[in-house]
Formats: sequence, structure tokens, C-alpha cells
Amino acid sequence: MGGDVACLRGWHPALAKAELKTLLPNAEIRSSNAPRLVTVSDTTSEQQQAALLVASGLQCFLTGGRFHAWAGNQSKLLEEVEEYLSEHKVEGSVAVVPWRQEGKIKGCSTSTLAGAIGGILHRMGYSIDLEKPDHRMGLVADGQSESLAYGWMQGEGTASFTSRGRRASERPFFKPVSLDPRLARLAVNLAAGPVNSGPIVDPMTGTGGFIIEASLSGREGLGLDINSEMVQGANMNLKWAHEGLEPPTCHIKRGDATHLPHLLPVPYMGKVAGFVLDPPYGRNSHGSMENEALLEAVLCSAHDVANPSAGFVVILPIHPMGERIHEAVELNESVDLLHGDWHGLQSMMVRTGWHPTSAHVEHVHRSLSRLVLLARYAPLD
Ligand SMILES: C[S@@+](CC[C@H](N)C(=O)[O-])C[C@H]1O[C@@H](n2cnc3c(N)ncnc32)[C@H](O)[C@@H]1O
Repeated sequence: MGGDVACLRGWHPALAKAELKTLLPNAEIRSSNAPRLVTVSDTTSEQQQAALLVASGLQCFLTGGRFHAWAGNQSKLLEEVEEYLSEHKVEGSVAVVPWRQEGKIKGCSTSTLAGAIGGILHRMGYSIDLEKPDHRMGLVADGQSESLAYGWMQGEGTASFTSRGRRASERPFFKPVSLDPRLARLAVNLAAGPVNSGPIVDPMTGTGGFIIEASLSGREGLGLDINSEMVQGANMNLKWAHEGLEPPTCHIKRGDATHLPHLLPVPYMGKVAGFVLDPPYGRNSHGSMENEALLEAVLCSAHDVANPSAGFVVILPIHPMGERIHEAVELNESVDLLHGDWHGLQSMMVRTGWHPTSAHVEHVHRSLSRLVLLARYAPLD
């Protein structure tokens, strides 16, 4: 099998895979037996690097990476690794970085294997530098599928997602509605795709969760909120998140999400690549009109300024339906929204020119989950 292996983070592999698909729109992405390892072909190293810089759910790529189904035979694996290394030579110092995911493979010690691979590299004439190697050979052991993947790494491997002020509660302006940065970043990528695809709009920005992540990714974008306290606080958060970095690439101002064509800068017209929406619900944030009517008006308004390949991600509270981190929710499945009706919502989206394409569940706690729904622009007759 050609291509590279992408290693996904464990928080939500299914969402991470959906994010990867939108960040690498021309790539062919195939699942493997290991839920967090997917093969990726038809991409360039530049496209992969760009995805790594902004992704929430992507750990690293293993260039030309290969799989080995563990059958207790270490010599067989080492033989295959040696063959890989002879076909993928690199210049400079090297190190082997082993890690395990989804439990242990019985009888397989990644540190012993890493030592043995280090021995092969040494014999091949490489200098080993564990501190600052020029190239790192990743060796991932996946306990669930009892398989290993290996290859030269592009990206950090085991590091977790980091955003400025990783918890929303660390920001100067925090409200219980503030979104987790990891989910906010993922939604931004899911909606807008590669960074250079066009501006992103968060029509109801609240404390600025999406816009901060868009801005830290170097995307152009605008956040709006009808409540001036939110606008002031979100602007404070955005400034704080950029302290010591380049100035923000996104802006936040007061405005009504149902009037986007009047509020967006002229260059945004017909060019917005992605919308991210976390509409008001419950006791903590008060909408300007009844929830369903408000959502429909925002969808219509967004359609008027979207580019023809725009994505729209809406995050909605739902009654729990299990962890569901390895699979999408089928659009014809039943989903119990906290407010409104799932099939009614899909009809509303279609009617406003947004075709639902995928849905995922994020488990929050025993009595609450969130639905992450992605829809794509469709022309209206
Ligand atoms: C659930 S909160 C968004 C939370 C946000 N994702 C965050 O990370 O803080 C919804 C926001 O929508 C705003 N809102 C309600 N109606 C609006 C409208 N018509 N136009 C713009 N914003 C509106 C509310 O003021 C509230 O801040």
C-alpha cells in the first residue's frame, strides 16, 4: 500500500479523521485496523506540514509508513523495518521514538524494539542523537489491532494538542458557555478546510472560542455577537491569546448574526470558506429570538455570503448517546436533540442551502453530549 500513515490523537479519532479529510481535501484517506492510524496518499509534504500546524486531532505523519501485524516475531518486524530503511534513506542524525496506544500488545516491548531498530540504524552508518536528531523514526504499537506502524516522522508524535491558554477557563473572560479549545479548533478546520481557503465567520462568538483558534491558526476571520459585553470580553481573550505572538488575523465586533451581508467586509462577499456556530440554548446564553427561527435566519444569512464550497459546522447539545469516538453518526440515525427535532433540523439545513454531510458526537458528561454537524453549501434554485 503506497502513501503515508497519519497518526491521530486519542480524544476523538473519528472527528480527527474528518478534520484530516477537510485539511487535505485532495488526499485519499483510508482507514486501517487501528482506529488512530490512517493511510494518506496523493498529498505533498508541504500540504501535510500545513495540516500539522493547525490540526487539533493530528499527531504526525509517518512518511511512506508501513504496518506490521504482530504475530510475536520480532525478527520478522526488524527485517521489514530494515527493508523500509534501505528504501527511505535520510541525511543527518536520527533517533527512534516508540509509543503505545490503545493498550499493550502482548509480548511486544516497544522499548526493546526501538533499541533493536537503533542498532540497525547504527549499522547502516547513521549517527544516533536522542536529544536533537535531524530525523525521528516513529514506531507506534496499537494494542487494539495488535499491529505496529513505523516510518520517518513528520510532526511531533505523542505531544497533545496545545493552544494558547489550553483551557477556556484560563482566559481573562470566561463563561460556562466557552468552548473547549480542542473542539473549537477542530470545528474551525472542519468548516473551512486548508488555511488559505478563505475567511471564516463565527456569527455568535460568545467568549470567542472559535475565533481565537482561527486566529491562532493564521486564518482570516470575523466573530460577531449581539451582546456588547461578549464582544468586549471576546476581544480581551483574543488579544490575550496573541500576547507575544503576531497580531490577530481575526476580528470581533458587535452585530446580529441574521444580517451577515450587511456586517461582513466587502471582500468577504461570496468568499467565506467556513462558518462555525454554537447557538444559544439553555439558561446561560439568551438568544435574540426563538432558537429554531434564529438558527434558520443565520443559515440563510450565511448562505448569502458563502463561497460555493463553504462548510458550516453547528454544535448542538443532545441527550447522551454513548462515547462514539470511533465512528460518525449516520444522518438517518435517531439523535435526541435537547432542543428541536433532528430530522426537522436536517430539513431546515437543506431548505436554507446547507446539505448535512457528517455528524459526530462528543461526550460531555452523563447527561449531556454535543453533536458536531457539518453541512456543505448547495446552490438554491
Ligand atoms: C452559546 S453562546 C456561544 C459560545 C461560544 N462558542 C464561546 O466559546 O464562548 C451563543 C452566543 O450567541 C449570542 N447571540 C444570540 N443571538 C445572537 C444574534 N442574533 N446575533 C449574534 N449573536 C447572538 C449570545 O450573545 C451568545 O454569546
